[in-house]
Amino acid sequence: MDKLTVRDLDAAGKRVFVRVDFNVPLQDGKVTDDSRIRAALPTIRHLQAQGARVILASHLGRPDGKVSDSLRLRPVGARLSQLLGRTIPVTGDALGVGTQDAINRLRNGEMLLLENLRFHAEEEKNDPEFAKALAAYADVYVNDAFGTAHRAHASTVGIAKLLPSYAGLLMEKEIEHLSMLLEHPGRPFAAIIGGAKVSDKIKVLKNLLDKVDVMVIGGGMANTFLLAQGKPVGKSLAEPDRVEDARAILAAAEEKGVRIVLPVDVVVAKEVTRGTEYKTIPAEKVPASWHIVDLGKQTLANIEEALADVQTVLWNGPLGVFEIPSFSHGTKAIARFLAAKAEQGTKVVVGGGDSVAAITHQGLADKMTHISTGGGASLEFLEGRELPGITVLRDRTTEGTK
Ligand code: 3PG
Repeated sequence: MDKLTVRDLDAAGKRVFVRVDFNVPLQDGKVTDDSRIRAALPTIRHLQAQGARVILASHLGRPDGKVSDSLRLRPVGARLSQLLGRTIPVTGDALGVGTQDAINRLRNGEMLLLENLRFHAEEEKNDPEFAKALAAYADVYVNDAFGTAHRAHASTVGIAKLLPSYAGLLMEKEIEHLSMLLEHPGRPFAAIIGGAKVSDKIKVLKNLLDKVDVMVIGGGMANTFLLAQGKPVGKSLAEPDRVEDARAILAAAEEKGVRIVLPVDVVVAKEVTRGTEYKTIPAEKVPASWHIVDLGKQTLANIEEALADVQTVLWNGPLGVFEIPSFSHGTKAIARFLAAKAEQGTKVVVGGGDSVAAITHQGLADKMTHISTGGGASLEFLEGRELPGITVLRDRTTEGTK
């Protein structure tokens, strides 16, 4: 990676502002998925071991510049404290005299967590004064918040222009794995792209067409491709106004020699609810009043055959209505198949909430090569876009270490 990282920094005794992405799901005041907190631990431990004074900062949810008690970072601080085996205080506000005092009192190797940055509207506006106030807390800046790298906010971009900046170890890992997919994947390289809508993924599909050998299209977005193939999709989720885009992708794939795998059989349901009637049928026979909710067995077999000798796989997005157990079989089967591939040496990179959930629920997370902590950020990266929170960090080639 061409960015300076925390490994280039001698952090002993320094005040280090570390932007993390602790935007995690909460229920009843408890963190229900701590993956993003765990993912930041290597950077935190590295700095702690060096004797840095660490100021952690994150957003949580979208409070739109107002204090919201349900979006306070206290439960996150509690989980972080458990994971680190020491109490990490959370300040009452990201700004203010009390917060400044708490930072002044930090000793080498100690840390605290600032309260939700988005309680201040200035954060999302990348307000220069707010960035200056945050920068005044520290000697150096570390960005380990890959999940927020697509946002040009005060704590991701503004502050990085005011302090010597470094990428954290999670940021480095994310950039390395996702760049590998776009720049030098082992071949054959397959992408499995699911999720609800073509419109959400069109740019990713287009960018990946130039990189992959096989592209599997599943989930709700496959229905729009079935429409493009002239197949009826009944009442299924589909975007008729995106049929032209789907046709263009199919044509481009043919021209580039990319093998496209679409559903040939599907599970259809009377309603998209638990306990409803459902059955598996050929993809061209979807009845007018039914909904496509999952892949059929033949489609799964086709995917496994198409991916038999791949060296690299990217998986983003569920392949059915994953939140309803009866319609989660296709997504879960792909998760198991990819875990087995990864064990045989295939590089498997996974991004996107539901595909990650399918892996985590089945205890397969450790088997994958890399599971991205970024939702929107990893999609934008795979679209080939520059992420402002990465671009602003210092390049190894142009900057010395500090
Ligand atoms: C995410 O969860 O994708 C990141 O934390 C960014 O959150 P945002 O979409 O609210 O900016």
